[in-house]
Amino acid sequence: MIDIAAREAAVLWPTYLRPQVEFVRGEGVVLWDVHGREYLDFLGGIAVVAAGHAHPKVVAAVAGQLATLGHTSNLYFTGPQVDLAERLVDRFGGGAKVFLSNSGAEANEAAIKVARRWAKASRGERAIGIVAAVGGFHGRTLGTLAATGKPSIREPFEPLPPGFSHVPFGDARALAAAIGPDTAAVLLEPIQGEAGIRVPPDGYLAAAREITAEAGVLLIMDEIQSGMGRTGRFFAHQHAGIRPDVVTMAKALASGYPIGATIAVDEVSNAIRPGDHGSTFGGNPVACAAALATLDVIEPLLEGHVDRVGGRLAGGLLELRDRVDSPGAELRGAGLWYALDLGEHAPASAREVALAALSRGLVVNPVTETALRLAPPLVIEEADIDEGLLRLAGALQEVGACR
Ligand SMILES: Cc1ncc(COP(=O)(O)O)c(C=O)c1O
Repeated sequence: MIDIAAREAAVLWPTYLRPQVEFVRGEGVVLWDVHGREYLDFLGGIAVVAAGHAHPKVVAAVAGQLATLGHTSNLYFTGPQVDLAERLVDRFGGGAKVFLSNSGAEANEAAIKVARRWAKASRGERAIGIVAAVGGFHGRTLGTLAATGKPSIREPFEPLPPGFSHVPFGDARALAAAIGPDTAAVLLEPIQGEAGIRVPPDGYLAAAREITAEAGVLLIMDEIQSGMGRTGRFFAHQHAGIRPDVVTMAKALASGYPIGATIAVDEVSNAIRPGDHGSTFGGNPVACAAALATLDVIEPLLEGHVDRVGGRLAGGLLELRDRVDSPGAELRGAGLWYALDLGEHAPASAREVALAALSRGLVVNPVTETALRLAPPLVIEEADIDEGLLRLAGALQEVGACR
């Protein structure tokens, strides 16, 4: 066991099952551990480090803002907050307003609250229901856990707030059937991240938009993992050509500086009254400065770079999938976000492959028992993709999962 593991076990909650590695530095797509060993980061802090580690623009923005004005609370106006909200509303297509918080779970909590506030006023006091999807992941607070479609992580903490139901992901008929007079909103990830990068069938998101619009309920898209350019568009729902009523963001938005954002169309955000919601840190000037600099880095990558290098990654992963010794092997994902699923009868688990990859200097994670998640920084170039694929092939061979 490495030194820090024993120290940590004595003083930190045993919340995380970590591999035996301590990272101390990062630059671009490279991480270094405490012994100076170099790793290619194909996980990017779980789809967070989109601009790459220690991007000079992000570092300068954070340091400059912290040295100028670090915090005032939300009792006063601050420029970076408005600058960021303007950028996000613009990305969404206008006609909307933003609430800024500190994490994905908080962004979804705000979405649930604004949906209920709007629906009670416009659909009646009973309209508090949130329809979400089986397998969906929306956070670990009690409210977002209630929305999460994974009974194994919900059940230990029941009773959870009422009003949440779950339908199979990708089934438009089941979605339509679940909406009734008590429904306020439908909450979906456009592609389910924690379920193993599950892409819904073509037409599902457009159908969800149509069904919710017809029923007069809100469509909330959780873009916390899928957004900020991860799939090659700023928001993953843009591939389907739809405009949801509410969008939530976090993860990559500020390069790892904690932030959450909830965008709601004007009709919905205008339902909020002063005092309905708030946060001490949310929209903190330093987090907003980090987000603005991150957007400066990410936005130009959406003009072809993510599609190009993502295509190369997908091509290499498809070759690996074909070499996996398991009939159920599958590749899922888009842009620079993939799950290589080894299938139920694979000779090795995703955890075993991830550990073998780590020992070869490649960071990936087992997003499910059978699937490896890859979500490298969006700034990654072809040469690093090729090297990462070589290391992954070596790891798969080492554990006997691939020819
Ligand atoms: C789709 C989605 N929603 C919400 C969350 C929760 O975000 P956070 O961990 O920042 O609270 C996550 C985190 O993985 C996520 O992937």
